[in-house]
Amino acid sequence: MLAPLRFAAVLAAAGSGSRAGGAPKQFRPLAGKPLVRWSAEGLLNAGADPLIVVGPPGGRAEIEAALAGLTFAWVEGGARRCDSVRAGLAAVPAEAEVVLIHDAARPFVTRAHIDALLAALESADGALPVLPVADTLKRASGGRVAATVARAGLWRAQTPQAFRRDALLRAYAALPLEAEPTDDAEVVERAGGRVALVPGDARLMKVTYPEDFELAERLAGAAFVTRTGMGFDAHRFGPGDAVTICGVRAPHTHGLLGHSDADVGLHALTDALFGAAGLGDIGDWFPPGDPQWRGADSGLFVTRAVQAIAERGGRVVNVDITIVGEQPRVKPWREAMRARVAELIGLPLDRVSVKATTTEGMGFTGRQEGLAAQAIATLEMPR
Ligand code: CTP
Ligand code: MG
Repeated sequence: MLAPLRFAAVLAAAGSGSRAGGAPKQFRPLAGKPLVRWSAEGLLNAGADPLIVVGPPGGRAEIEAALAGLTFAWVEGGARRCDSVRAGLAAVPAEAEVVLIHDAARPFVTRAHIDALLAALESADGALPVLPVADTLKRASGGRVAATVARAGLWRAQTPQAFRRDALLRAYAALPLEAEPTDDAEVVERAGGRVALVPGDARLMKVTYPEDFELAERLAGAAFVTRTGMGFDAHRFGPGDAVTICGVRAPHTHGLLGHSDADVGLHALTDALFGAAGLGDIGDWFPPGDPQWRGADSGLFVTRAVQAIAERGGRVVNVDITIVGEQPRVKPWREAMRARVAELIGLPLDRVSVKATTTEGMGFTGRQEGLAAQAIATLEMPR
């Protein structure tokens, strides 16, 4: 049995996009992100290690800009797709048992697609997603129908395609240089390899013609779902001369008691983030009895929650935190708190809000026994 989700990926992104017109399609924005970034993130989220991105000759800077912040290896591509894949394969480490080849022009690849391919590889040299041919097929010449082609047994091949590395390398080594395969399964087929079919998906569409961008924009909107989470926390005042709220130390007549740094704002925020992602709560991830969290900077909790969301293909859209208490006054520190939270999550400042309120002397915060905080977080997560 192959180890699940341990694979290298080669992303073919070296084409010129002539049929789509305009600038090379892999760099054109789709729902605010370059097309190639969608497919690169999809592969990384599914566990690609390493991710090898084959870009156009001389296009390294453009690929690096489009994929800023992602972990990948750059390789320069060739004139034909098969030349680009060959170049990418040369960079696959020898210890990778499984290699995935994917078109940058297919933005909506998910972990589920890849899981199905890896499962099919257990009894094959290669596996690819296919869709049945729904339309009647015609052969024509000179604008006239020459024949109707029987479509029984015909399938439309998509990517990603998964291969045992040694079988794929052998097949490429045997491929005549003048051959022009349009996918990688063909290379393995020619070499006599066993290639398995798995059910394809309309969402693995390739952006090929100008109108495909419009369809992809619609799918991009449908690919993510908005999720909201809330968090609440309270800490009691104790001896001390400052409190830490949203990562900012504010002088006060008391400190806050807690196992970590007792940052109510960041604790409420961490719970909102975990809550929105359906990942339990702060106590599940950072048990209060665990000595490693004694006096810990609660910023760690926030960055771990953000990381867990990113690992699942999600991202934080905005957060809003309300600090509840009479003293210390939050207002003088508010902008610094906002800036710190924005930095921790990696969000622009206008997506982060920190507010404060008193309870007009009522309740435990009114009696100045401690501070409380509420937070709400909105995420975009894969559907
Ligand atoms: N590709 C590549 N190297 C090439 C040609 C294509 O890496 N020499 C990549 C493309 O960037 C694309 C994928 O292979 O992600 C599928 O190819 P296709 O849809 O044909 O893209 P282009 O070749 O860029 O488009 P066109 O054929 O319309 O010029
Ligand atoms: Mg092409």
